[in-house]
Amino acid sequence: MLRFLLVPAVLIAWANGDSWGPYGEQCLVGKEQVYNPADSFSVKWYNIDLDEDPRTRWNEVGESHGKQILAALDTVKMFIALIDVSIYDFLVEFAAMGVPNLPEPYHQEIIGMAKASGLSVGEVALLNLFYEIKKGCTSIVARDKDGEIYHARNQDFGFLFYWNVTLQTWQQTMALKDLVININYIKDGKVLFKGVTFAGHLGTLTGIRPQGFSISTNARFGSVHENIYDFFVRGLTGRSFLMYADRDVLTKCSTYEEAYEYLTTVPLLAPGYFILGGRQNNQGAVITRGPDGAEHVDTMNQTSWYVLQTNYDWDKKVIYLDDRRGPGHDCMNKLGTKNVNLAGLFQVLSSKPNLNKATVYTSVMHVNAGTLESFIRDCQNPCCCSWRLWRRVDANRSWTIHTLTSTVSVRRPESVKCEQMRSGTGYFLIEEGKVA
Ligand SMILES: *[C@@H]1O[C@H](CO)[C@@H](O)[C@H](O)[C@H]1NC(C)=O
Ligand SMILES: *[C@@H]1O[C@H](CO)[C@@H](O)[C@H](O)[C@H]1NC(C)=O
Ligand SMILES: *[C@@H]1O[C@H](CO)[C@@H](O)[C@H](O)[C@H]1NC(C)=O
Repeated sequence: MLRFLLVPAVLIAWANGDSWGPYGEQCLVGKEQVYNPADSFSVKWYNIDLDEDPRTRWNEVGESHGKQILAALDTVKMFIALIDVSIYDFLVEFAAMGVPNLPEPYHQEIIGMAKASGLSVGEVALLNLFYEIKKGCTSIVARDKDGEIYHARNQDFGFLFYWNVTLQTWQQTMALKDLVININYIKDGKVLFKGVTFAGHLGTLTGIRPQGFSISTNARFGSVHENIYDFFVRGLTGRSFLMYADRDVLTKCSTYEEAYEYLTTVPLLAPGYFILGGRQNNQGAVITRGPDGAEHVDTMNQTSWYVLQTNYDWDKKVIYLDDRRGPGHDCMNKLGTKNVNLAGLFQVLSSKPNLNKATVYTSVMHVNAGTLESFIRDCQNPCCCSWRLWRRVDANRSWTIHTLTSTVSVRRPESVKCEQMRSGTGYFLIEEGKVA
């Protein structure tokens, strides 16, 4: 896969110790409060009755969001077309082939979702797969001065896909904003747990088991895609998709301890980070998962009053043009335990660059109160992390580069000198996280 990325010169300047300029870190702690619970009303709630037939339980969601699910799928198609459009049909077929291998209830639910939304089973399956492999995020669990636990997350999605030059935003991020829904999962007539998902996606990306625990999943780069491939080719391998493990833990476990045990041991198809929150004191952990078990766990303790995770390992440097970890910590330290609550964590996650052009939604959770609120986000210009991807436009291997201000075509990216990029557009060419 192509590893060339372009970054605004201002971002590079920061790496040299200068300011990022208008794209810089902007912690909103101490500024006017941006949290307004009423803003969460635009994310619709649905009931999914787990006692109902899996083939029909998603009918309402599928029927009311079919068009928008198709629009999101179109952005996946656009992305695949950057490589080769003919792969798309193959991938849909490939995804359809794997559906019978899915564990229940997901297997039956995908069939039901396809029927209700008007898409093919392969298309719904492909979309679900894309959610598994392409996401960024910031998750935080924090304790207030009385030992009460709060959990918040930004879901970033769609970066590196397709930049809409007119609207100055990621095309897929935009499409996904129409798909964010909250769900009450009902069992025996009562709410068993609550979750946030994209309509058409049967897993849970963020969720809360009231009086139990809260969870969010972040992507870990460098995924083991062979495992996913194996799943489709060899059938059930006893390993779980990350997105379904989330929903499974919310279904099966009722306490923080049970959830911790499950999340550190469940065999996975791909690595990832589970961020787990509980009810009080030290119940907050970032579990760094490999396919076979936990590779590292960060837990809150007497002195460590919060855990924060983006998309980089505890012992690895961040890619400097995507440093959401450093600014996140700075902002949390400004917040302090005395300001930890839903509004405080929302303020941190509204601070750039934790809020960025790829942020689809923010959710805040409070287990003891059973609270889950989700907010659609929009990062106003100037807003950072607008990465660009070299885009192959024709058989001659000529490429188009979208920048914040212009579009450039070049014949052979290999031959482009850093200086040309600099003088031509104010953008740099980087490879593997280094300035080329
Ligand atoms: C950008 O978004 C607008 C509004 O959705 C759309 O009309 C336009 O076609 C998009 N541009 C590209 C290049 O996709
Ligand atoms: C608390 O956690 C931090 C961060 O993981 C660690 O550096 C520190 O040693 C821990 N302190 C105690 C008392 O365990
Ligand atoms: C490839 O380059 C040749 C020579 O410049 C040109 O005639 C041809 O149209 C190009 N092909 C495409 C698909 O752009």
